[in-house]
Amino acid sequence: MRQAGRSLPEYRALRAGTAMLDACRTPELITEITLQPVRRHEVDAAILFSDIVVPLVAIGVAIDIVPGVGPVVDQPIRDTAGLDALRELDATDVPYVIEAVGALVAALGPTPLIGFAGAPFTLASYLIEGGPSRDHARTKALMHGQPVLWHALLNRLAVIAREFLRVQIAAGAAAVQLFDSWAGALSRADYERYVLPHSRSVLEPLADAGVPRIHFGVGTGEFLDLMRDAGADVVGADWRIPLDEAARRVGPGAVVQGNLDPALLLADWPVIEREVRRIVAEGRAAVGHIFNLGHGVLPDTDPAVITRVVELVHSLDR
Ligand code: CP3
Repeated sequence: MRQAGRSLPEYRALRAGTAMLDACRTPELITEITLQPVRRHEVDAAILFSDIVVPLVAIGVAIDIVPGVGPVVDQPIRDTAGLDALRELDATDVPYVIEAVGALVAALGPTPLIGFAGAPFTLASYLIEGGPSRDHARTKALMHGQPVLWHALLNRLAVIAREFLRVQIAAGAAAVQLFDSWAGALSRADYERYVLPHSRSVLEPLADAGVPRIHFGVGTGEFLDLMRDAGADVVGADWRIPLDEAARRVGPGAVVQGNLDPALLLADWPVIEREVRRIVAEGRAAVGHIFNLGHGVLPDTDPAVITRVVELVHSLDR
């Protein structure tokens, strides 16, 4: 998740004096920051150090990642002229990603590298709102009020996200994850009508790419089945829903990912241990379960606690 590194002193040391998006475009930094949590916690997979807005920055959209805030867009997209500013992405736009993925695959050996992209809805929300939003009001207004523009925008973002995933797979990523972090702001009906077709157009063409596709959103318990229908092999859930119930909703053969509440990492160890055991037990209702957090690591988390959680999960292996 996006803040995985922030709890690590070695991450803060490496990032000191370098803006987030500059770090995301420097192959040596991408490589080293990606490896840090693997080295320290001995997790089973690495997630590429990047951000969902990196492909947008790569095609020339003026975005900054403001510390403590998130992505901020210079000129929000709210009309056809704004849409025209979004061109397609190709591999030559992100050479630093290709270089870093290559170096990482070599350094990681048998540990898989997960590539990722932001889903069309979540990217659209940042672009339309101009930054992080609690209610996604302008996004929803545009979705319902200007459906033609909406679908054109999401279609374009889907093409960008798909290409960004393809580039990472071609460079050696062993799995990909599509983050629709804010899709939980939508009703099931609106998700199905306005978002699902576009997320499907990201994931479905990657069916024969030979890597598992993970699809995750926060607060998306009401439509986990639809998130699978978009073309996901693994559906991620946040902590609001128990994993056995998530598996039931995803449907037969479900493989789920999740879902320890990141806030609980700040609780006492007996609480954490009880919750980890519960989640692993509930995950056994699914055909497969990738243990992780229900969302990103909070910056104040003690890294030693994360290491201990990883050890505990490993001790509970099937
Ligand atoms: O943890 C990792 O290093 C994995 C790489 C990763 C980042 N962003 C790096 C990052 C991943 C997978 C992301 C995805 C991402 N970025 C998402 C989807 C996943 C999710 O968490 O929901 C979203 C919504 C974003 C947008 C974004 N970027 C936000 C909301 C923030 C946090 C802003 C803040 O300071 O609170 C970022 C910044 C960001 N992306 C950081 C990292 C390591 C923090 C930068 C820092 O302060 O060091």
